[in-house]
Amino acid sequence: MLREPVTSIRFGRLLLTGAAGGLGRVLRERLARYCDVLRLSDVAPLGEAAAGEELMPAALQDSAAVRALLEGVDAVIHLGGVSTEQRWEPILQANIVGTYNLYEAARLAGVKRVVFASSNHVCGFYKQSEVIGTDTPPRPDGLYGLSKAFGEDVAQLYFDRYGIESALVRIGSSFPEPRDRRMLASWLSYDDLERLVMAVLTTPALGCSVIYGISDNKTRWYDNGGAAHIGYRPQDSSEPFRAAVEARQPRLDLGDPTTIYQGGAFVRTGPFTQD
Ligand SMILES: NC(=O)c1ccc[n+]([C@@H]2O[C@H](COP(=O)([O-])OP(=O)(O)OC[C@H]3O[C@@H](n4cnc5c(N)ncnc54)[C@H](O)[C@@H]3O)[C@@H](O)[C@H]2O)c1
Repeated sequence: MLREPVTSIRFGRLLLTGAAGGLGRVLRERLARYCDVLRLSDVAPLGEAAAGEELMPAALQDSAAVRALLEGVDAVIHLGGVSTEQRWEPILQANIVGTYNLYEAARLAGVKRVVFASSNHVCGFYKQSEVIGTDTPPRPDGLYGLSKAFGEDVAQLYFDRYGIESALVRIGSSFPEPRDRRMLASWLSYDDLERLVMAVLTTPALGCSVIYGISDNKTRWYDNGGAAHIGYRPQDSSEPFRAAVEARQPRLDLGDPTTIYQGGAFVRTGPFTQD
């Protein structure tokens, strides 16, 4: 059951990449309410087009296909890409080449606003004892985080040179509910994800701004004070899930890097070789 729309503002055509993925499927039904046409893209199957949907399968590393994707859209929600720690080659193609292709296609098509799905793993080697802000420099916890840091730099370049505005949304953990103790700090509810995306799309002056994609959690490692101009007000919290999460995970190894660092298990996932 969807809540009431969070804004009455409507767009002509929005592009959602990564539309077949976990968050893509969540936003697919929610974004349809805010635009006349929702263009959906992915390399994975997208199913049937519903009313108001336009399906355009594309691999992000295919620059010609990505150019076609950006034509005639008002704004982009860029979720597509590798979302876990993996071998370098798929990360290179989807997140490095793909993100460059997306911004270059936006420039050529005159698209002026991008919601870029960055990640908390851009900063995964900050400690869980630290609260980091929107001007905190990257400290990636692996190749995936490194590729998202590259994406943030591409966005900054295309803002400085061409005025394309971006929100660099360092998403925490966006799932139906927090699964472990770490996610009590990093959780982002699906309703808050929608609020965040629509705040980014509708704020008059976005600039090129880092914002952490988290709900209003009691335990917090991220300070969104530097992104107040976006007007994102989370309304959910991980707190109602705390008792169940702590019952499942009553003890933590305090010397374990996955407990020490914000990136959790990603800080020691891999390396994956190229074979
Ligand atoms: N879910 C989270 O909690 C979370 C946290 C941090 C960041 N993010 C970021 O948000 C975005 C969406 O996350 P998700 O959980 O839905 O991930 P997901 O892996 O479920 O979805 C990503 C989608 O991108 C597509 N894709 C992969 N490589 C591609 C390529 N080369 N060309 C075209 N499409 C390609 C996949 O087919 C997939 O459908 C990702 O960019 C991810 O890195 C998500």
